[in-house]
Formats: sequence, structure tokens, C-alpha cells
Amino acid sequence: MSEKIVAANWKMNKDVVESAEFAKELSKKILNVKKTGVILSPPYTSLFNMNEILKDTIVSLSGQNMHFEDAGAFTAEISAKMLNSVNCEYVILGHSERRHVFNESDETIKKKIDKAFASGLKPILCVGEKLEERKSENTAQRLETQYTSAFEGVSEEDFSKCIIAYEPVWAIGTGETATPEQADEAHLLIRKLTEEKYDKELANDLKILYGGSVKPHNAQELIETENIDGFLVGGASLQVQSFYEIIEIVENYLT
Ligand code: 13P
Repeated sequence: MSEKIVAANWKMNKDVVESAEFAKELSKKILNVKKTGVILSPPYTSLFNMNEILKDTIVSLSGQNMHFEDAGAFTAEISAKMLNSVNCEYVILGHSERRHVFNESDETIKKKIDKAFASGLKPILCVGEKLEERKSENTAQRLETQYTSAFEGVSEEDFSKCIIAYEPVWAIGTGETATPEQADEAHLLIRKLTEEKYDKELANDLKILYGGSVKPHNAQELIETENIDGFLVGGASLQVQSFYEIIEIVENYLT
């Protein structure tokens, strides 16, 4: 895995044509990017075409979600096998919009995590506290519950493949970013949980991305913290220019 990672979560944005244009433009811009891993999570309808366009580039594809069953009567859902068939390497699980808009529970997310590992997909597990949890000083407890539930019974080997994204719910799409200190503190907690459950090596190797109103103007101060290994970007990933600027900041920081 690359030392640092910049991932885009397009959410419900971009049709097939818009996605293809973005992929072509981005692949030209990132020819010199060597150290930063780049992941794109477009809508499902764009995955097939984007896989064709991006197959000889450094870009990896990710699903935005996935069902835990293999197949069956689950209207509108998508399976791990389907994501595998379009060459997805990753799948975002437990995004706050899935948790809070679509009422996905820790239990449901746990089933998805297990299915992803069993199917060879690398989960990008999102964790994060709501504003009231932060205000009532329950951030650590919430993160620990989400972490513990997701990784119960997960082997070291499987865990080593996953990425965790810390996305405080109050910072998503609001223009409000966690301060570098707040983000670093949460990331350090996740690293400590990993050290307690697994070991120091896995804790050090774990990639923990920050997500929540990441923009070119705040990426530098965030990437300079000790425990932020990259970003999961929403709004600013929808334009090639702003997404590329964030990649460039991370790449320059590494060189
Ligand atoms: P924004 O960057 O738009 O705040 O979204 C963050 C996010 O939810 C990424 O998964």
C-alpha cells in the first residue's frame, strides 16, 4: 500500500459521461504521482467504463457500499462479486450517510466487513462521531464502539488490508473541518485501539484517512500531522482541479 492515500467519494454525483471525462483528465495529470495512492469511488453505473479508462494508471476503484449477501431478492443492492467484476479493489463501508440517512447499524456494517474480506475486497471503514457526541465528550466511546464491532473476529492478515477513514459527522459537507489537533487525536485513538487489539506493527502500518470538508486550502496543515495518512474527499473531489491539488499537496509532502 502507498505511504499516503487520497480517495474520492463522489456520492450520488456524475453520470457515465461526466465520470469518463474526469477519469481521462485526471489520468493525464497524475502521470508524475509516484508515492500517493489514488482511489476513486464513483456511482456504480460508472464503474465498468472507468475501469476500462483507468486500467493502466495508478488509480484504484472503490464501491461506495455493498450488500453482505451474495445474491438474491435485494432490490437496488450490489454484491461483492459485482464490484469484483469491475475490478474494484476497495469498498467504502459504514459511511456516515449510510449510517444516519439509511439507518445502517454497526451490526449490518460488521456483516459487510466480513463479506468484503471473504470476497477479496479491501474495506474502507468509516467511523465518526455526531456533533452531540463530541459536545458530550463521547467521541472516543463512539469511535471505539464502531471499531470494536467492525473488527470483531477479524484476523491480522485481513485487518492489514483495510483502511479506516475518520469522518466526524459534523464536518461532512458542512465546510466545517476538524482542526488538525482534533483529527490527529481521533486518529491516534484508532491507532491505539489497533495496537491493543493486534500489535504495534499493524497499528503503525494502518492507513487512517481524514474526511470532512477537505479542500486544497486545508489539506496541507492536516497532512502534516503525525497520524493522518491521507484523505477521503467528498465535495472537492468532484472537480479534477481541486482533487488533483489535494493529491499534489500530499505527493509534495512526501518528496
Ligand atoms: P465532504 O468532503 O464533502 O465534506 O465529504 C466528506 C465525505 O463524506 C467523504 O466520504
